[in-house]
Amino acid sequence: MTHDTVPKTAKLTFGDQELDLPVLVGTAGETAIDIRQLRAKTGAVTYDPGLGNTGACQSKITFLDGEQGVLRYAGYPIEELAHQSHFVEVMWLLLHQELPNKQQLEQFTHDITYHTMLHEDLKRLFSSLPKDGHPMAVCAAAVGALSTYYQKAAPNTPEQNWIDAIRLLAKMPTIAAYSYKHSIGQPFMYPRNDLSYAANIMHMMYATPCEEYEPNPVMARALDLLLILHADHEQNCSTSTVRTVGSSGANLFASVSAGISALWGPLHGGANQAVIEMLLSIREGRRTAREFMELAKKKDSGVRLMGFGHRVYKNYDPRALILKQACYDVLGELGRKDPLLDIALELEQIALSDSYFVERKLYPNVDFYSGIIYKALGIPTELFTVFFAIGRMPGWIAQWLEYNRDSEARITRPRQIYMGSAPRTYAPVEGR
Ligand code: ACO
Repeated sequence: MTHDTVPKTAKLTFGDQELDLPVLVGTAGETAIDIRQLRAKTGAVTYDPGLGNTGACQSKITFLDGEQGVLRYAGYPIEELAHQSHFVEVMWLLLHQELPNKQQLEQFTHDITYHTMLHEDLKRLFSSLPKDGHPMAVCAAAVGALSTYYQKAAPNTPEQNWIDAIRLLAKMPTIAAYSYKHSIGQPFMYPRNDLSYAANIMHMMYATPCEEYEPNPVMARALDLLLILHADHEQNCSTSTVRTVGSSGANLFASVSAGISALWGPLHGGANQAVIEMLLSIREGRRTAREFMELAKKKDSGVRLMGFGHRVYKNYDPRALILKQACYDVLGELGRKDPLLDIALELEQIALSDSYFVERKLYPNVDFYSGIIYKALGIPTELFTVFFAIGRMPGWIAQWLEYNRDSEARITRPRQIYMGSAPRTYAPVEGR
């Protein structure tokens, strides 16, 4: 449907009531029935577990068409940004929904570069946690703890929000690298201001006080590409979490910390770790690719083809397409081979010709191929989702800022349909 052909209202008949509900049309013609008056007028609410049919906000940040496999940040196709832009520029784009001019980009790059250090006392937080604790838990704790150092943080003035945004974007790589250094018992490495965003992350992870690490440009570029592709994805689970927490008036650090926790789950960002574990299990001969696929189709097996399927994409995830090619490019440029790539290709080939996956429109998502590149960059498996979090940071912040500017935003508070016991009388324990 186009803007012209979409009806202006939707008629709802409920008992003997008839309601004309307004219709909202988005830029690309996507339509929504505005039900804000529904409960007041009928006493009824909608029922939509998982919110798959619910538009919770209007947004100008990211557009995604799951049927066609299209993703754009503020109107720019992900393919163009992936091949022509870089992560710091994409951060600005998401935050402002415009590309920066030269001077804005220079100032922004400078600001991000000069806020990377953590307060020295915050290092103790890392040391106080078990070395084998999952780095996503460590990062969620450290990001939450930032609000104890920056106590003015609150959704109040645009200036305060901006400086908090800069802090988070700048410090997240340092937090991520510290979580890794702590896990392997090495000293924390301070950030280096002469390096690019991606190269600095690699420096903080791989250098030691005894030995410098010169970031390989091919690897730094590959990491930058991964960060661009993860930068935003409209109202996914973690972003909705950030908006929900922010809707209560919680500050940016607290809101993003909750987003990191949401991202951790294996059905969301944690799938990138689960994919590599799945590929390894096949490589180690615990099951063949075909046996694994048969298991993934059985509901009661508890096994899913990780990195496949998506709530919105019913087509190839455009990010997966870019990453599949990037796997060949990066491995080729580094002169390496990875048998896990062959296994992934085999799984994909089986899935794309198997009626179970075809009928359900299950295609590779962003997590299917990303792990192979992370692995080629020497990033340990438990850190994959942390790198997803570094990439998603500008998206979370942009969405949080947008929510705080939105005059129609209200505290997020869904309704429920109570199905529990009818009223009954309390009986003391002796009589039960
Ligand atoms: N393997 C096997 N079957 C699957 C898979 C899969 N990866 N994904 C979906 N299905 C099946 C479901 O069992 C269901 O079958 P049914 O209709 O017979 O009951 C059908 O496809 C629809 O799946 P739902 O779970 O209802 O789809 P939903 O939109 O709720 O879930 C999700 C999407 C969570 C991504 C799901 O596809 C999944 O679990 N994928 C594997 C985990 C993964 O890769 N997550 C990363 C997503 S991308 C991201 O968050 C960054």
